[in-house]
Amino acid sequence: MTTFRLLKQFNEADHARSVDRRKRIGPPDAAAFPGDGLADKLARALCEHRATRFRELVEAFEFFAVARKFARAPAVVDLCGGHGLVAALFVVFEPEVERALVVDKRRTQDFDLVLAAIAEVAPWTRGRVTFAESRIENARALLPERAGYVAVHACGRRTDTALDLAIADRAPIAAMPCCHAVGASAAPAALKQQFGDAAVDIERTYRLEREGYAVRWDHVSPLITRKNRVLLGRPRPR
Ligand SMILES: C[S@@+](CC[C@H](N)C(=O)[O-])C[C@H]1O[C@@H](n2cnc3c(N)ncnc32)[C@H](O)[C@@H]1O
Repeated sequence: MTTFRLLKQFNEADHARSVDRRKRIGPPDAAAFPGDGLADKLARALCEHRATRFRELVEAFEFFAVARKFARAPAVVDLCGGHGLVAALFVVFEPEVERALVVDKRRTQDFDLVLAAIAEVAPWTRGRVTFAESRIENARALLPERAGYVAVHACGRRTDTALDLAIADRAPIAAMPCCHAVGASAAPAALKQQFGDAAVDIERTYRLEREGYAVRWDHVSPLITRKNRVLLGRPRPR
């Protein structure tokens, strides 16, 4: 089984059984994060603020653990970022990241709850994580320079739009796709028939490579989500 990299307590059977909880976190859930490290402290604050659902919390931390070295840059853009926790984690943990921008078509209260929780434990993040309420398709003009991109479950074609934005900037990108539109993919029919969702990501991988990217695949634990493949693309030096 894939190990948990940041929330290591979930590698123990008792904890692992508790990952797939779709309910919103609350103060009693803080018991799942008993450690003295920054990750557990942040998770406890998120529970106190009832900021996300349980699985979203674990997913964001573990995606960040996979993506952090790939996507870090002076600015990080979290496309279709929803609650914005992934963006916030970059500013908390990665000194190189000066600011992060969440782009989503709808800003919800979850983003404010995440910011409030994070600011309590990591006050250096204040004012450095912002939100742009925009469709990703119209986001180009909003994006900072020298950015790294992340897209977690951006859903279907929006992962491709995220790749387009990164390619246009020759920026690194870490994407965990979901809702693969197998029928609409440019992947060869035989691959789609044989491999389904994976064929879509294989086609994305070839596309990034054609655009001059070095691509790796990684994943978060399947206990968190079955849509756990992470595409990591970084432009090769010209
Ligand atoms: C499955 S959620 C993922 C949210 C977050 N990244 C996460 O991992 O929890 C998909 C997100 O995409 C946003 N979204 C859907 N269509 C969008 C669009 N065209 N442009 C920007 N955001 C969009 C939704 O509002 C939602 O927050």
